Amino acid sequence: MLSLIPTNAADLKDVIRMEHHPDNKEFIIPYSLSQHQQALESEDEAHLKLTTEEGSTIGFVLLAGLNNPNQSVEFRRIVVALKGMGYGRQAVALVKEHCFEHLLCHRLWLDVFEDNGRARQLYKSEGFIEEGTMRECIKQDGIYRNLVFMSMLQREYLRPARH
Ligand SMILES: CC(C)(COP(=O)(O)OP(=O)(O)OC[C@H]1O[C@@H](n2cnc3c(N)ncnc32)[C@H](O)[C@@H]1OP(=O)(O)O)[C@@H](O)C(=O)NCCC(=O)NCCS
Repeated sequence: MLSLIPTNAADLKDVIRMEHHPDNKEFIIPYSLSQHQQALESEDEAHLKLTTEEGSTIGFVLLAGLNNPNQSVEFRRIVVALKGMGYGRQAVALVKEHCFEHLLCHRLWLDVFEDNGRARQLYKSEGFIEEGTMRECIKQDGIYRNLVFMSMLQREYLRPARH
């Protein structure tokens, strides 16, 4: 069982190490230390770490737009260091619970690189709906990449469609 608890300043070294790991870096746009510090301090953002029952930090999550007047919260980032063990799925379930049951948001949305098959499959199987593609909107190392937008509404969380 994982927990989602506030990150503190002492955790940021590990957070940055996870972001820059070759298994993660290509799928996210890493923050600088000062961007992470701002996220810790901002009332509009949540910086949360994923910890095991034994107390190890195995990843983190960033949320943004907590004060959005449309109650539309951005699931800005998730990184799980220990992959393929079900932690990502547990983490996404915790994020949905936090956003829809505690923050009472109406909409939870995210963008994901089109070539990030693992994350897209995870989000889809957790009930996120694809909304469209922003074509070639990110330029990295001279290459343009597509972003896919996905979202879930509170009513879809509360009453998931039966397949
Ligand atoms: C994406 C990420 C959060 C998923 O976490 P994880 O712990 O590896 O995922 P899980 O073990 O919970 O697996 C979740 C699902 O992913 C899918 N999956 C796993 N490995 C996969 C692969 N290599 N290719 C495609 N799908 C895969 C499976 O559908 C799996 O579901 P299952 O329960 O049916 O097996 C994690 O791999 C990560 O941090 N990746 C790098 C950063 C990143 O991409 N973040 C998201 C940016 S939008």
